[in-house]
Amino acid sequence: MNTYPCFENRTALITGGASGIGRAVAGKLLGLGANLVVWDINAARLEELRALAPDRIETAVVDVSDSSAVRAAAEVACARFGGFDYLLNNAGIIGRHMSVNELDEAELDRVLAVNLKSVFVVSNVFLSAPSGREGRAIVNLSSIAQRTGGMVGSIAYATTKGAVHSFTTALAKELAPHVRVNAMAPGVIDTEIQKDVFTDPSKIAAMADVIPLKRLGTADEVADCAVWLFSDASAYVTGISIDVSGGR
Ligand SMILES: NC(=O)c1ccc[n+]([C@@H]2O[C@H](COP(=O)([O-])OP(=O)(O)OC[C@H]3O[C@@H](n4cnc5c(N)ncnc54)[C@H](O)[C@@H]3O)[C@@H](O)[C@H]2O)c1
Repeated sequence: MNTYPCFENRTALITGGASGIGRAVAGKLLGLGANLVVWDINAARLEELRALAPDRIETAVVDVSDSSAVRAAAEVACARFGGFDYLLNNAGIIGRHMSVNELDEAELDRVLAVNLKSVFVVSNVFLSAPSGREGRAIVNLSSIAQRTGGMVGSIAYATTKGAVHSFTTALAKELAPHVRVNAMAPGVIDTEIQKDVFTDPSKIAAMADVIPLKRLGTADEVADCAVWLFSDASAYVTGISIDVSGGR
């Protein structure tokens, strides 16, 4: 039985959906009947995803920090599916490991553009798309780094995730009561963005030790939270951020 019938014949726009958390959300929403529009810079993985259900999945190689590319891809997707019902603002990068003094302007601009500017631009195309439907929802990927400061050397990343948190709170007020807006703040999740941790057993053990649930998380566990936040089961929830962090 489909416990989330709200996704049938609806369309979800997912950025950074070729791998990790975005890919896990794509898989779950596809299984629940949604059409998908997925943007990423990884062409090969996008094609693998599209091949699963070409009649229900539109993919495009889009760098979300490029506003013109985002607007062009949105036009194509809207022409096909008639608008969007759900948005996962998920594409993100940690950036190069640097102290605040080492951080050059080009690297700072890159992290701000991918993790933060894109969230404004993609939300704008999502909201501008035609949709007469009720129950639209946005989920943004923040991080527990927004309150812990993250790893030393990722100050730009932590700052963008704090801003995504504030963006979520402010946009939820702006769009109420028509569109719900929430965030998820994952802890350490087994995806490529964390490959430095997950390729080193001693780092995995050290991380797990400081997490109350004593293990690192999976993309599937974060995706389950996203599905709930998009679904009618969370119809009275907006403007919050949920930690998916094993209690850290
Ligand atoms: N994995 C974690 O521990 C963790 C923790 C907290 C927050 N997050 C956040 O979750 C989100 C997803 O990360 P993930 O863990 O799945 O990592 P991931 O590296 O597996 O996935 C990120 C995806 O974003 C895509 N991407 C990167 N730059 C892009 C760009 N300019 N345009 C379009 N796509 C781009 C990548 O190709 C990749 O498919 C990120 O915003 C990340 O900051 C992850």
